[in-house]
Amino acid sequence: MLKYFVFLKLVLVFVQHKLIFAIQPTTKNNHVLAGHVFQAYTATDWFNCLQTCHDDPRCISYNYQRSEEANGLCELNDCGVGDFCDREGSLFHSPGFVFQQIRTSKVSAVLSYISVPRTSPKNVTMVNKTYKSIFITWDAVPTNQTNDEIFGYEVEYSIIEGGQPAWEKRKVFSVPDVHFNLTGLIVNRRYEIKVRAYNQCGNGPSSEVLWVKTDERRPKVAPPNIIAVRVNSSCVLVSWERIPNGKRRGLIQKYRVNITSKISNETTSREVQAPTQYLEIVGINVDSKFTITVEAANSKGFGPVSEPVNITAVP
Ligand SMILES: *[C@@H]1O[C@H](CO)[C@@H](O)[C@H](O)[C@H]1NC(C)=O
Ligand SMILES: *[C@@H]1O[C@H](CO)[C@@H](O)[C@H](O)[C@H]1NC(C)=O
Ligand SMILES: *[C@@H]1O[C@H](CO)[C@@H](O)[C@H](O)[C@H]1NC(C)=O
Ligand SMILES: *[C@@H]1O[C@H](CO)[C@@H](O)[C@H](O)[C@H]1NC(C)=O
Ligand SMILES: *[C@@H]1O[C@H](CO)[C@@H](O)[C@H](O)[C@H]1NC(C)=O
Ligand SMILES: *[C@@H]1O[C@H](CO)[C@@H](O)[C@H](O)[C@H]1NC(C)=O
Ligand SMILES: *[C@@H]1O[C@H](CO)[C@@H](O)[C@H](O)[C@H]1NC(C)=O
Ligand SMILES: *[C@@H]1O[C@H](CO)[C@@H](O)[C@H](O)[C@H]1NC(C)=O
Repeated sequence: MLKYFVFLKLVLVFVQHKLIFAIQPTTKNNHVLAGHVFQAYTATDWFNCLQTCHDDPRCISYNYQRSEEANGLCELNDCGVGDFCDREGSLFHSPGFVFQQIRTSKVSAVLSYISVPRTSPKNVTMVNKTYKSIFITWDAVPTNQTNDEIFGYEVEYSIIEGGQPAWEKRKVFSVPDVHFNLTGLIVNRRYEIKVRAYNQCGNGPSSEVLWVKTDERRPKVAPPNIIAVRVNSSCVLVSWERIPNGKRRGLIQKYRVNITSKISNETTSREVQAPTQYLEIVGINVDSKFTITVEAANSKGFGPVSEPVNITAVP
């Protein structure tokens, strides 16, 4: 209760003194600022150390030795870290201690100790994919570099349209792991994928770009506007139109035309390579009644079959 009260008092003091309030108290576990101690004593507890620093205008920051028992070494520093990020610094690793800065340092001689991640994730690799997802992995950015810390990774991807990444369709995800499943993607489209590590100071450099195309699916619809014209007694000319954009789900490789007798139920099948969009069927007796169906195939196979159409006579 008392601690909460003192804390409230501190917050109020921060509000009254704009200079003090201008900074958030910055805290770093297991680190100390060395070489700037102007007073050291054994504090009854952490809060006692904080309050002593607060009550002494010379005190910019302090190191406190957290211990199981209440008493711990309290070192008051006459300066702090200038900028928490971006520069090499002089906080030293010291297990069991906590460093906290409560005021802006007038002397900005001391530099900070954390930098943004300095290397990019390497070996960004596609492990497997479906028509709507791409699963990628990468090698963890090493955290043993001096003063580097990694909080996680940002996976950024963008669909490629007309050879360029469509930045308005860019998506960014933050993940703690070194793998990510990009989902909700569009079938048979090219994607640009980049990964970078981040910490509290910001983002590190991006990895090399990985380009991956999502899988194809079978065509979504049959070719439209099928026309079958009887040329003569043994020849039928069948034509159709291209499946519209977004329904092909891949590159159309071929078409199949089936001609089925309404009487015998026998089917004759012919195929033609894309992009040809017509087929002449000769050598059958077209005098009987027939229906025609057409279907289109990409690398995943044939899509749905069209409604049967009747053969019309040439006027
Ligand atoms: C890249 O990652 C893949 C999959 O994790 C692994 O098989 C391969 O050995 C890695 N390559 C390098 C150069 O680290
Ligand atoms: C994709 O790779 C992951 C990891 O190797 C594996 O667990 C998963 O079963 C694979 N999925 C498919 C669809 O191959
Ligand atoms: C960091 O770790 C990597 C891989 O474990 C090692 O090769 C490298 O020597 C280490 N660097 C330092 C500075 O410890
Ligand atoms: C990725 O997500 C898709 C769609 O939810 C799923 O089908 C696929 O199996 C997932 N891949 C992995 C490796 O988890
Ligand atoms: C029917 O038309 C086709 C194509 O024009 C032609 O090759 C064929 O000889 C014709 N058959 C008859 C019986 O006229
Ligand atoms: C033709 O064959 C299909 C399946 O192959 C069948 O469903 C249909 O009933 C048959 N029609 C006639 C007239 O035999
Ligand atoms: C068209 O003919 C082929 C070969 O006979 C057959 O495999 C296919 O199922 C037929 N398609 C339809 C829609 O009947
Ligand atoms: C094709 O002809 C049959 C009669 O043989 C008729 O019932 C059917 O509606 C016709 N289909 C079309 C698409 O015109």
